Amino acid sequence: MKIAPSILSADFAALGEAVARVEAGGADQLHVDVMDGRFVPNITIGPPVIESIRKRTRLPLDVHLMIVEPERYIETFVRAGADLVTVHAEACPHLNRTLHQIREAGAKAGVALNPSTPPEAIEWVLDDLDLILVMSVNPGFGGQSFIPSSITKVRQIKTLVGTRPVEISVDGGVTRDNACPLAQAGATILVAGSAIFGAHDPAQAVKDLRSASEVLK
Ligand code: DX5
Ligand code: ZN
Repeated sequence: MKIAPSILSADFAALGEAVARVEAGGADQLHVDVMDGRFVPNITIGPPVIESIRKRTRLPLDVHLMIVEPERYIETFVRAGADLVTVHAEACPHLNRTLHQIREAGAKAGVALNPSTPPEAIEWVLDDLDLILVMSVNPGFGGQSFIPSSITKVRQIKTLVGTRPVEISVDGGVTRDNACPLAQAGATILVAGSAIFGAHDPAQAVKDLRSASEVLK
């Protein structure tokens, strides 16, 4: 299981320190939530912040674009340091083209699905992506409660993916309590914001989440 701390729940005034802590705790990649106030109600950060984080860590940067018309910004985010760019299926009328655009820009390509979007939305682009991000909350804010049906959705997506080398990531309300069922359903990456940066010791929280995902596996 890979653990991807979401910096959305970190103290933005001490981001470098927050990143160093989770890196020391063994995080596999950093999840960066970009919100535009249009696709989702919240506004967060953009390319300059990613550029600064890039200089502070060797961890891969997993950039989750919760923005309309993401195709307008893909090259900018890759230039800023994104290793993986995830767009929302709901924001992309030409998803196949957008995924190719991400790969041509030099990053891995991900697609996120809102809780109400069925797995079939990505059925015809499975060979064009590297990661599927299953949203287990409605995107926009950290610290929301996990939607339990997401576990069934992960299982369905795993079946759909078959033997393809595609990561299945889960984002929203991930905690030690749901880490194990998510792993059993087929998740390969757990994104967690408040469960990690809301903890007294974020480095230890990374380790705890990983061990919780491995119980009974
Ligand atoms: C929600 C974001 C998530 C969020 C997760 O819109 O995409 O990445 O930061 O935060 P928690 O783990 O607190 O739900
Ligand atoms: Zn996210």
